[in-house]
Amino acid sequence: MVLIGATTGAAEKPPAEMLATGLFEGQIPEGLSGAAASLVSSGDFTGKVGETSLLYRQEGLGVSRLLLVGLGERERFTPERLRRAAATAARRARDLKLREAGLSLPVLPGGDARAAAQAAAEGARLGMYRFDRHKSSTQNHELETFWLVSEEQDLGQAIEGAQLGQKTAEGAVLARDLANEPSNVATPQYLAEKAHAIAESHGMEVRVLDRSGIEEEGLTGLATVGRSAANEQRFIILEHRKGGDAAPIVLVGKAVTFDSGGISIKPSGGLEDMKFDMSGGAAVLGTMQALGALNLALNVVALVPATENLPGGNAFKPGDVLIMHSGKTVEIITTDAEGRMILADTLSYARRYDPAAVVDCATLTGACHVALGDHASGLMGNDEDLIAEVRAAGEASGERAWPLPLFEEYAEQISGDVADIKNSGGRYGGALTAGAFLKVFVDYPWAHLDIAGTAYGKKGNAYTPKGATGTPTRLLVEFLLGRTR
Ligand code: BES
Ligand code: MN
Ligand code: ZN
Repeated sequence: MVLIGATTGAAEKPPAEMLATGLFEGQIPEGLSGAAASLVSSGDFTGKVGETSLLYRQEGLGVSRLLLVGLGERERFTPERLRRAAATAARRARDLKLREAGLSLPVLPGGDARAAAQAAAEGARLGMYRFDRHKSSTQNHELETFWLVSEEQDLGQAIEGAQLGQKTAEGAVLARDLANEPSNVATPQYLAEKAHAIAESHGMEVRVLDRSGIEEEGLTGLATVGRSAANEQRFIILEHRKGGDAAPIVLVGKAVTFDSGGISIKPSGGLEDMKFDMSGGAAVLGTMQALGALNLALNVVALVPATENLPGGNAFKPGDVLIMHSGKTVEIITTDAEGRMILADTLSYARRYDPAAVVDCATLTGACHVALGDHASGLMGNDEDLIAEVRAAGEASGERAWPLPLFEEYAEQISGDVADIKNSGGRYGGALTAGAFLKVFVDYPWAHLDIAGTAYGKKGNAYTPKGATGTPTRLLVEFLLGRTR
């Protein structure tokens, strides 16, 4: 595993194989000489975002390679741009098969060196991510160390930021790995085993309910959705108790390890992507790993309902009525609205913790993807302060979430004909009627992230390859960090 460290060019040996330096647009930096200076002064290198140029044997620097990386306009420089620049630099060094490389830490507006190091570490680690364990031949060179080179006076901050960034990124890497695994590997039981491993390495408590435990607990939605699957459903409870007697924060993640739609079966095109329907659960487990590594002084409970959604002779059917964990009755309109069924029970199970806040994340609706595209998760809830807090965590982490309304009318759209409510509100406003459905089951401050558009996709940016993104692991870690301040 690559180590992201921080160093000063002066006190310690600079990473001699390659040093990357960011350049802002229109900047003629001091300290560049020879070919690098000509490259910039000639206007051949402009500093646009994503632009790179690799130079050799740059005099006076003591490094064999100098990589110039464009950072865009100085006034518009953000941690997100830094993540991408660091990813570009780290990946280039890796592809050159180097052992170590460095990046001179650029200064963020406001000059927060810790935040800069955190962002650069996240970008470097995530930019080098690949999921190739199922390929029989891999190009497997890994960088050993990626150095963030800071000014002498900022070194302490840079070290802290690098560690925070790396631990956060490793959480996102775990989330990506879990979500990228196909459903024949990442079964509900597999996720339960991962939860056990996280508990083991970080001193957490873990409990896993199997099919009969789930039935006994009255988690009807989870029991019913997973009823016809050969890979049995699991209900995963992972607790980090480092916050004294404070009310816990509960994180809930949808983990449908494969969503065929069930009897309301989906069209076959693109169906392979439905292995990603456990991305919410994957992100919650990734967050718990980061939380443990950071050893935050909080009480956090992770609840992950994990199941397949398959058709079969024993499968639930449209028209069925379920008595949920909360006692509410639900008429099944479509077995493809399974996520809300397992989440509803999980949210009502969460009441027993008397939580300070509950945040759920789920690849819940195609409608949310249509509404916001690939670039923001849908954010709903019942508490304006919590929504603002989650939104701010999204902005800071580079995993944006955008508020969507839960007007009363959306609840009316799912009011029941045969039962109390029905599990689909029809075609229009699908993300909101799903949110309104969940809201029926909560009585505490709650926020809901619909990550159907953000959890996976085609190659997104310099640090987001095709496949699982790990979203919203970094958002959740940032949210938890905020709760410690
Ligand atoms: N897992 C899907 C949502 C989804 C769709 C995520 C596409 C990512 C990409 C969810 O279980 C689902 O099928 N939702 C339905 C709800 C509808 C039947 C009310 C949807 O969005 O079509
Ligand atoms: Mn579905
Ligand atoms: Zn689903």
